Amino acid sequence: MRRPVLAANWKMNLGRTDEALEFVRRIRYPLSEIEGADRVLCPPFTVLAAVAEALAPTSIAVGAQNMHYEGKGAHTGEVSAAMLAGLCRFVILGHSERRAAGGAFETDAAINRKVKAALASDLTPIVCVGENLAQMEAGGTHAWVSGQVAGALEGLSATQVAPCVIAYEPIWAIGTGKAATPADANRVIALSIRAPIAEHYGEDVAQAVRVQYGGSVTVDNIADFMAMPEIDGALVGGASLKPDYVDLVRRAVEASGSR
Ligand code: PGA
Repeated sequence: MRRPVLAANWKMNLGRTDEALEFVRRIRYPLSEIEGADRVLCPPFTVLAAVAEALAPTSIAVGAQNMHYEGKGAHTGEVSAAMLAGLCRFVILGHSERRAAGGAFETDAAINRKVKAALASDLTPIVCVGENLAQMEAGGTHAWVSGQVAGALEGLSATQVAPCVIAYEPIWAIGTGKAATPADANRVIALSIRAPIAEHYGEDVAQAVRVQYGGSVTVDNIADFMAMPEIDGALVGGASLKPDYVDLVRRAVEASGSR
């Protein structure tokens, strides 16, 4: 059975040390008492070290929101896997908000290099994939999502793929309040993420990879997503900035136990 993984994507919020620590101090004890799931907070780079230190005595993990694929060098404003490795265990890669901004560092090929660099530094990548509204309406979800998965995992061995986390985030559901239906998300994950992984790497690997749903997850809808057999957690944006995020995680773990 796959261990659920709930990741809080703070995006460009709570990036000042005082505000980040105030929030972390409010949620860390109740959140650390919730067993049965990986709980990951992904703050901005500016407070990664402070948040990591505040969470060090707890079972809560820290993640970054992006990284560069090179180890070091003339890459102004960038951060490498080796730099993150001492601070956190997870890193979000290929978030649609970054892919949408475009550029050479968010192509499937670049994300593939980032995944490899993250794994080489013992970071667990949370690889984001998902279709936009036009693709969904045109029936293109499967081709697009399975293509993104193949692109991100290109050239990896089965042992490298197994520990990866994939976040299925339909772009039309992010920050809109219009989440996918749990059944639709479950179907896309089964057909467009797990089935192609099974085909390339074998059924054992496909069953080991943890797949999150993301996009307008709330304390009210999380249980319905977690009740789905293919959904192993969530990547939560807006709702992760509220103190009742702890309730969201608690409900997620309860619902995953009942499936
Ligand atoms: P949201 O964002 O929960 O605010 O929709 C999710 C994400 O972008 O990871």
